[in-house]
Amino acid sequence: MIKRRHKVLLVGDGAVGSSFAYSLLQTTQEVDELVIVDLNKDKADGDAMDLQDITPLEAPTIIRSGEYADAADADVAVITAGVPRKPGETRLDLVNKNAKILSTIVQPIVDSGFHGIFVVSSNPVDILTTLTQRMSGFPKNRVIGTGTSLDSARLNVILAEKLNVPVSEIDAHIMGEHGDTSFAAFDEATVNGQPLKEVANFTATNYAGIEEMVKERGGKIIARKGATFYGVAKCLAYIVKAILENRNVTLPISAPLNGEYGVSDLYLGVPAVINTSGIVKVIEHDLSEEESKKMAHSAAKMKEVLDGVEL
Ligand code: 2OP
Repeated sequence: MIKRRHKVLLVGDGAVGSSFAYSLLQTTQEVDELVIVDLNKDKADGDAMDLQDITPLEAPTIIRSGEYADAADADVAVITAGVPRKPGETRLDLVNKNAKILSTIVQPIVDSGFHGIFVVSSNPVDILTTLTQRMSGFPKNRVIGTGTSLDSARLNVILAEKLNVPVSEIDAHIMGEHGDTSFAAFDEATVNGQPLKEVANFTATNYAGIEEMVKERGGKIIARKGATFYGVAKCLAYIVKAILENRNVTLPISAPLNGEYGVSDLYLGVPAVINTSGIVKVIEHDLSEEESKKMAHSAAKMKEVLDGVEL
């Protein structure tokens, strides 16, 4: 049997996009062609050449700059384009600028005949993922946002440090908005398979402090180096790997909710199973009353922002 070729289109070759491209080539061997689209064609060309030079040591991938029309036969279109946060800005401050940029990207991709899966990381990611689905008219399961994957990674790192255990032993998710209304699902978190709340000797103040540390981590990185990119780049690469390798893994992503967690018509950070068809299942944890309230608050905030988007 001839192996099916896999093609990925990347739109947005800034710090996140180029870090994603670099990470993708080392996260999966399943990419046969990677096409980079950016308004700055020289940057896309230069990165394509630079990345092509690592392929003898990784997978034999074709990497080149291209156009939206290259989406026609792509399996995945990754959108990282948009203005990033500056020090002191929230993700929601970016919404109108990035929604406008998004509207110039999604239509030409759809017009190319693209019939793959959109993966979005531009901020505010839950809003922009919802808009990508609406603008494209794609089935909801074929549009995915990075959601709270990065926040969850940050939570796992912080818990591992606090408990002094390897990060691989922690399984904990941040849910809701990738932003200020997110919350940690501590009741569902485990350490080496044991409930976190049984293993850790944390007070309510400790838990609140950990949740706050997760929320502040992106801003702290931006204050120090001007941007964050490696973390979200790896989350993106991991989502694309799950799609191309048909892995059926559960990841905390921005998924379309249709009544799950009491939320509808919105993409929000929840654990969901991903394979080659896109999102195949939203995992519905039995949230505590407190966690359910936080979820409802996050959803209400996202709906308010969505209603105010000016395109
Ligand atoms: C982050 O959390 C800025 O959303 C980006 O690192």
